[in-house]
Amino acid sequence: MTAEVTTAAPTTHQGILDFVAEVAAMTTPDRIHWCTGSDEEWTELTDALVATGTFTRLDPAKKPNSFHAASDPTDVARVEDRTYICSVEEKDCGPTNNWMDPSEMKALMRKLYAGCMKGRTMYVVPFVMGHLEAEHPMFGVEITDSAYVTASMRVMARMGSHVLEKMEELDADFVPALHSVGMPLEEGQDDVAWPCNDTKYIVQFPEERTIWSFGSGYGGNALLGKKCYALRIASAIARDEGWMAEHMLILKLTSPQKVTKYVAAAFPSACGKTNLAMLEPTIPGWKVEAIGDDIAWMRVGDDGRLWAVNPEYGFFGVAPGTNEHTNPNAMKTINKGNSVFTNVALTEDGDVWWEGLENPPAQATSWKGEPWTPDSEELSSHPNSRYCTPIKQCDMLAPEYDDPRGVPIDAILFGGRRKTTIPLVTEARDWAHGTFMGATLSSETTAAATGAVGVVRRDPMAMLPFIGYNAGDYFSHWINMGKENDAAKMPKIFYVNWFRRDDEGGFLWPGFGENSRVLKWVIERIDGQAAAVETPIGHVPAPGSLDVDGLDVDEAALQQALDVDVEEWKAEIPQITEWFEKFGDDLPTVLWTELDGLKARLGV
Ligand code: GDP
Ligand code: PGA
Ligand code: MN
Ligand code: MN
Repeated sequence: MTAEVTTAAPTTHQGILDFVAEVAAMTTPDRIHWCTGSDEEWTELTDALVATGTFTRLDPAKKPNSFHAASDPTDVARVEDRTYICSVEEKDCGPTNNWMDPSEMKALMRKLYAGCMKGRTMYVVPFVMGHLEAEHPMFGVEITDSAYVTASMRVMARMGSHVLEKMEELDADFVPALHSVGMPLEEGQDDVAWPCNDTKYIVQFPEERTIWSFGSGYGGNALLGKKCYALRIASAIARDEGWMAEHMLILKLTSPQKVTKYVAAAFPSACGKTNLAMLEPTIPGWKVEAIGDDIAWMRVGDDGRLWAVNPEYGFFGVAPGTNEHTNPNAMKTINKGNSVFTNVALTEDGDVWWEGLENPPAQATSWKGEPWTPDSEELSSHPNSRYCTPIKQCDMLAPEYDDPRGVPIDAILFGGRRKTTIPLVTEARDWAHGTFMGATLSSETTAAATGAVGVVRRDPMAMLPFIGYNAGDYFSHWINMGKENDAAKMPKIFYVNWFRRDDEGGFLWPGFGENSRVLKWVIERIDGQAAAVETPIGHVPAPGSLDVDGLDVDEAALQQALDVDVEEWKAEIPQITEWFEKFGDDLPTVLWTELDGLKARLGV
């Protein structure tokens, strides 16, 4: 059967026509739909998703034009063990990625894709990551058989007819990105609310700049513009072209004196990027505006500074823990509507709820579709449940978000979740030392990826699951960015930890809006105002230099949060050594020199 084309192919771009024809021949969908990105299309898509039971419409008085979705209970997070970098040579994927020979992988996946869209509509989503007006717009075309993915792509990326027209006008190159949930429908077979397949593959072909994803509907596995393109493929492009694609939020910070700085921060998934990006400072007179919450593309400008843009168009935020106190700006954004909530609880009055949100409902339906009350043993929401909401709805979005040049970054923060060892804030001595901090970043695993939670692992630059090539080469690229550019103009690097614990397991630092105090210290360091003391691991706040005015935290806890414990750091050394040894000759020698320096300063 040939697919019924619901809309005639609205382009003459031969590369796109060929891609669509080739995929249609392989996957045999019943229908092909070229996405325009219009409001009418959104209404049709979401109505269809309500009809199949994938979406439940929320009460428009509470969250207009918004929907609840519950995934298959097995399809809730990124699948790192199923994610591959299929470079031509195995050595180019490095020791941190899964690899298979590209032709072997393609043969294997072609079998999975054969007929996999039977009974379904194939959606063609033309999109651009970053600005359409960028000097070199970064185009993609995602083909997917999931209406949920298509609707989510409209929130998360600039997509639709205007993008397709521009691609045609420029006869532009694009990243072909193929996605299937991997559940064909036989004649008369009823669909399920969340189609997916036990077999999953999330595959990047870095040389071909191509993405093939199969079996999952979860955002990070299926919205291919985000992790697959804007991080894995883009990091490989960035290495070749001399820029950086990083797992970083971008924020604008304005002091009471109206001095503006821009900060980028890399924390692993579910470690506080979205919250920091939308921070409501607790210190008087300071203001934060968001630019991005997950991904930064950074290029050195003519002025020698590092300029960053957020390539995305929406927020894909962790729901649990989000509330009016921790993240009032996220609450305001999602309350405007036009959002999709996945794997949270659905309340009886047509709203959503999750752990940590105010006013728990007396009863609700859990993300697993079961009756839930505050006395239930089980969680109402999956720990990696998400809201997907348009970035333009965020009142505190900086106007610079729309500037294709981006913003010049003053400071880069690295951070993670560590119960011990890592102090609240440390300043790197220079770019190479900052690269060492990033390369040795460690964090407890979270629910954002499948697998054990709470296990400390190295997550270099928070990019472990996202580096699209050999991580040793990635470290060299970082070192080179510092060497080839004017050190005085490059951002200063810091390492933060909001998650250090006391003996009872409580957080030593209140976090959230109070993190503005750390941002203030960072900015004052850059401007040569705040005092620091030198320690073996870098510069930390001198007594009294961190603004704790009006902070409700006891002095002992604060001291413990800031403490550099030499014994704990000595225990890190063998772990860092073992980590570095993984990379063999690919590890830049500068990083061994940094480790030697740290050892000498610790006296080991
Ligand atoms: P992202 O995935 O890196 O964007 O992280 P999020 O900002 O979504 O935060 C992930 C989880 O960490 C949420 O449950 C937050 O409530 C929590 N979180 C974020 N910032 C802080 C903080 O400063 N302190 C503490 N204790 N938790 C935080
Ligand atoms: P996060 O984004 O970093 O906000 O958790 C999703 C992910 O990294 O999986
Ligand atoms: Mn992320
Ligand atoms: Mn986030």
